[in-house]
This record gives sequence, C-alpha cells and structure tokens, in this order.
Amino acid sequence: MRRGKLLIACLCAALLAVAAAVPAASAEANRLALTPPMGWNDWYSAFCGVSAQLVEQTAQTMASDGLRTAGYRYVNIDDCWMTPSRDSAGNLVADPTRFPSGIKPVADYLHSLGLRLGIYEDAGTATCAGLPGSYGHEAQDAATFASWGVDYVKYDRCNIPYGEFPGESPEQVQQTLYARMSAALKATGRPIVFSICNPDPGDDPWAWGAAVANLWRTTPDIADNFGSMLANFEGTVGLFRSARPGAWNDPDMLQIGNGGSTTLEYQTEFSLWAEMAAPLIASTNLATLSAADLAIYENRNVIAVDQDPLGKPGVPVRGAGGLWALSKQLRGGDHAVVLFNSTGAATRIATSARAVGLPGAPRYRLTNLWNRQSSESGGGIAAFVPAHGVAMFRITPLPSRDTETLAPHSVLSLSPHPGQIHFGELITVIVSFTNQGTSTINRLTLGFRAPKGWHGRTSRNYRAALRPGRTFRVAVLALAPSVGPPAATAALTATASYTSTAGRRVIGATFGEQLLAPTAATLPTAK
Ligand code: GLA
Repeated sequence: MRRGKLLIACLCAALLAVAAAVPAASAEANRLALTPPMGWNDWYSAFCGVSAQLVEQTAQTMASDGLRTAGYRYVNIDDCWMTPSRDSAGNLVADPTRFPSGIKPVADYLHSLGLRLGIYEDAGTATCAGLPGSYGHEAQDAATFASWGVDYVKYDRCNIPYGEFPGESPEQVQQTLYARMSAALKATGRPIVFSICNPDPGDDPWAWGAAVANLWRTTPDIADNFGSMLANFEGTVGLFRSARPGAWNDPDMLQIGNGGSTTLEYQTEFSLWAEMAAPLIASTNLATLSAADLAIYENRNVIAVDQDPLGKPGVPVRGAGGLWALSKQLRGGDHAVVLFNSTGAATRIATSARAVGLPGAPRYRLTNLWNRQSSESGGGIAAFVPAHGVAMFRITPLPSRDTETLAPHSVLSLSPHPGQIHFGELITVIVSFTNQGTSTINRLTLGFRAPKGWHGRTSRNYRAALRPGRTFRVAVLALAPSVGPPAATAALTATASYTSTAGRRVIGATFGEQLLAPTAATLPTAK
C-alpha cells in the first residue's frame, strides 16, 4: 500500500497524536535550526549552472526585495560547484570558471549582507553529478567548509560504497556515514546546519535522522507540478511525530516561481509546507520572480505558522477523498488550520474547533491567512475550496462572546450538476450559505451568475435574517448555450452580501471546473 493511502487509513488515530509527547530538543543538540531553515537554493532553476555571480546576485535580490527581512537567511549552493578532482593535498576545489575567487569571498559577501552560505556535498565517493564526494575525507572537508565560512551543509547519498560495509543494510551504512560528517562538522567548532538528503525507499531517515542532522529529506526530488507536490505532501504529512525544534522533515525545496503550476497551486504548496513545519527554501530564479510569486514567499502570516517556536508540525485530522484538514498547534494556544482540496473540482470542506484539537470556548476568531479577513465562529470551520487550493486560518479561542466585534464566519458554496455539462443542457445549481458565527446575519442576498451565452444567467434571492448555525439554500436553473467551443470551461459564480454587528460584507464563490463537452449533434458544423 502506498504511504499516502496508509496515512489516510490511519487518520482516526491522528488526533490522539496531537496530545502525544514530543521530545523538547533535537538529539543532534547543535542548537541550530530551532525553527525550520528558510532561504534559497540554486538547484531547480540553475541545476549545474551555479556560479558566484548567481549566488551574489541572488543575495542582493534577497536583501533588497524583502525576502531577507521576511526571514530567508540561507543562500545555498547545490551540486556542481567544484572541480572534477581534489588538489594534490586532497582538498576540494571550487570550479575556477564559475567561482573564480573560490567560496570564501562569496561567504564573506553574504555575511556582509546579513545572510548565510550553504554548500552541497555527498556521503559517497562522488556527488550525484559525479564530482568528488566526501567519503574518506569527512574531517578534511568539514574543516575546509568551516575555513570558508560555510553555515549549512546539504549532504547527499549518491555513490555510497555499500560493498565496503559487508553485512550492513544501506540504512545502517548511511547512519554511519552521516554520523561521521555530523561529528566532523561539530569538531570544527563552527555552527553549521546539517541537512541530509537520502529520500530513497527504505532509507526512512525520519526514524533516525534527528540523532545526526537538523533536517532530512522525506520524499524524492520535487517537480514543478501539482502531482509531484501532492506526492511529497502525502509522503511527509504523516511523519509529524518525527519533527521538533532542531530536527525537521524536509519534503524538498519550493518550486514556487518556476512556472509549472498556477498561482493558486503555489499558494497551496507554501501553505502545506508551512503547516508541516518544513524548511522554506526557494529554489527558483529570484531575479525574475513575478510579483504574485514573491508575495507568496513573503506572506508573513503563513511564514509565522512555519516558524512558530513550538515547532509542532500540523496533524491531519481528515484526508478522505482527497479533502484534507490539518491542524498545527501554535505557541500561545492558537491553531493553524489548513483545508486542502487536492481534487479537480471546487468543494466545501468542513471541520470543527473540537476536531482540530482546540479547547472549548464560547467562540473563536478565524483569521484567513491569504485574504487576511477575520471572522468569528461558534466552532464550525469551513470553506468552499477551489480545486488544488487551500483555505488557511489562524484560529484563536476567545474567552467571551462580546470581547471583539467580528463578522460571523460564513461559507458560500455552489454545487452544480455533477459531471460534465453538455451544450444545450438545463442544469440545477444549488447555492448554499451557512452562518457559522454566534450572531444573526441580516439582509442576506445571494446572487448567481453564469457566463455569457447562458439563459437564466443571473438570479437574486433575499432573506431577512439567518440565525447562527443555519443554512440558506437556493436552487437555480441555468440553461447552457446550445453551441460553443469544444471543452470550454464555464465559470459559475455566486455572491453573498449581508450585514452583521461588524457591518456589511460581500463574499464570492466560483465553480470553474465543469467542462462543456459538445456532442456531435450540438457542435457547429463547418460549411
Ligand atoms: C539529488 C538531490 C537534489 C540535488 C541533486 C544534485 O538529486 O536530491 O536535491 O541536490 O542531487 O545532483
């Protein structure tokens, strides 16, 4: 059974685990990475094209575009930075064309900007790109890195000579070799974060990585598409018991900005990584990043969830059918809740304060960490979540009913006719609105719109008052156009406006995933 499926089967036990004791500090005890590391790495945008120029320009960008102040500190050089052989004394040598002055001046420059330098090596005889590995040179290489001013080492697992360890499993050999480098780094006396990279099946570094490292890869290399991101999420989310301050699960770097996913999918990636207390290492070209993608990396509310000092990863409280609810306990009693829709159609996802492990309270403040709106709930937590999207809330128990004036938490959803809509088809769309707050909603108006070319395109429905916990549901009939381009997407939109003690609020919901599948009879014929 795939790990993701197994995880879903085990969800009932997950809540109990929220209360399970987690050791307070990393066994590695180098007192580093007490919150998940944040920074940049060249790999997914430059691969073997890394250079001093790229690293220094990236550092300048980070210092000027707000990323450094948002918490991104490590600037990490991945594979391919060195020459194909060591020097006559056995030392590693930086590639003279790409790092003409070596690594130390690059580290000095980064340090002058208040940033830190990371570098890549490998526990075997060669790196994954075939350059010299640290096997048999651990102490020498650690000393080299310390003398250059390196602050972070990513240590890979390619080309390990397993044959030299008869009778030992690959996992045992890795433990030996990673422990060697861990001790060598410690012996330099320089604080160096140690990131191990051994995500192959059976390696299971989450079971033993905390004894030697600050973070360990849980899953294979991530690609810039939703399916790969989802696989790494599913392969990591169930490992929440293994992580703690100084010791983190690493589902690989962030692909946000590389162009293979939508802005919404990138928001999802960032939210899920923060919820899992994963390292936030941007692996993209920061100089050409769009404003929308930069805004994702700089969402301080979501970063605060990742960097929460309690260091507890989110726990899945539901995951059936690809609809997830995760809850991350934060210092001070708040929880960060992510409702994640991994399916291909927008839908409502609901849970409750109780189910996510919040203590009982007269009401709760919900702050939506993407649209930044706050509302109050009597305990229900729900959202209409687009396909591949998330709703992410920071939830605070409030001691009494009247301490703050907040709009009631409400959910507007649309459930069109299931399956594809055909040209010329009459469909029924249910628009429903639920008041999850603790006070009555007044002057509620629900609106519905279908795209141009439809009949019954707009509709309005009015309700004087809606008490807490109540739902107002209307059915709308809409007739799809009889002809149109093949495989068009119909964006069916609902809006709700209402007043409460907090004033007037308007919310919207869109269902845009239904494809119009023209039949032969309704397709326009070529003349
Ligand atoms: C492995 C790692 C990647 C990257 C490359 C470099 O594939 O998992 O993150 O470091 O090696 O060769």
